[in-house]
Amino acid sequence: MRIIRAKNYEEMSRKAAAIIAAQVVSKPDCVLGLATGGTPVGTYKNLVEWYNNGDVDFSAVTSVNLDEYRSLPREHPESYWSFMHRNLFDHVNIDPARINLPDGNNMDAAAECARYDAVIEAVGGVDLQLLGIGHDGHIGFNEPSDAFDLGTHCVDLTEETIEANKRFFASRDEVPRQAYTMGTRTIMHARKVLMIVSGKDKAEIVKKAFFGPVTPQVPASILQMHKDFVLVADEDALSLI
Ligand code: GLP
Repeated sequence: MRIIRAKNYEEMSRKAAAIIAAQVVSKPDCVLGLATGGTPVGTYKNLVEWYNNGDVDFSAVTSVNLDEYRSLPREHPESYWSFMHRNLFDHVNIDPARINLPDGNNMDAAAECARYDAVIEAVGGVDLQLLGIGHDGHIGFNEPSDAFDLGTHCVDLTEETIEANKRFFASRDEVPRQAYTMGTRTIMHARKVLMIVSGKDKAEIVKKAFFGPVTPQVPASILQMHKDFVLVADEDALSLI
């Protein structure tokens, strides 16, 4: 595990974007595992800017997103499909045929999870997986549990996650209660994992996840065992370590 310290959110975003850009420059047909949430917005902004400057070319890149809300219409502004288009895909030259997300509108969970695992396998696995972290240590939507989940699966979101994500919706009642998420095995099989974390409110979970025991009760803690895991965090997020 390597920790890269950034002064603030802006510097964290630039450093993370630089790592992703380096991946795309060195392997133009790479597979990027992408993430949503508030944290990656600045990272995507930098990538769009560098694409506009002609420094990064996404034409051969394949993307596989971590997760998607179940039952939220794809066109809803808070679906992860909409988020990714609004923040990145609509502004760079990625081939729409190479964009992959779980289909939250396929209500047959077993079929959808199997389909998504097959997609990830067919593209040869993930070269670089970008992650944020939830306050309870979740990655993607792998919530605290008694065992690490392996492949893509359907999860019931915890009360804490529903509470954290309600800021994106008109009311708490509108937050979907379930999601499809890549499993821990898929994340651990990514050849490189890049986590970005910002803010004092994440300091406690950073300490617990990366300086505490490895346990499925803190899903991100498994990353301590990944052979190429980079944590880019700002001073606030690192303030307790
Ligand atoms: C969501 C996403 C995660 C993300 C987490 C933290 O639940 N499924 O992928 O890492 O929230 O989000 P934020 O960056 O907004 O704190």
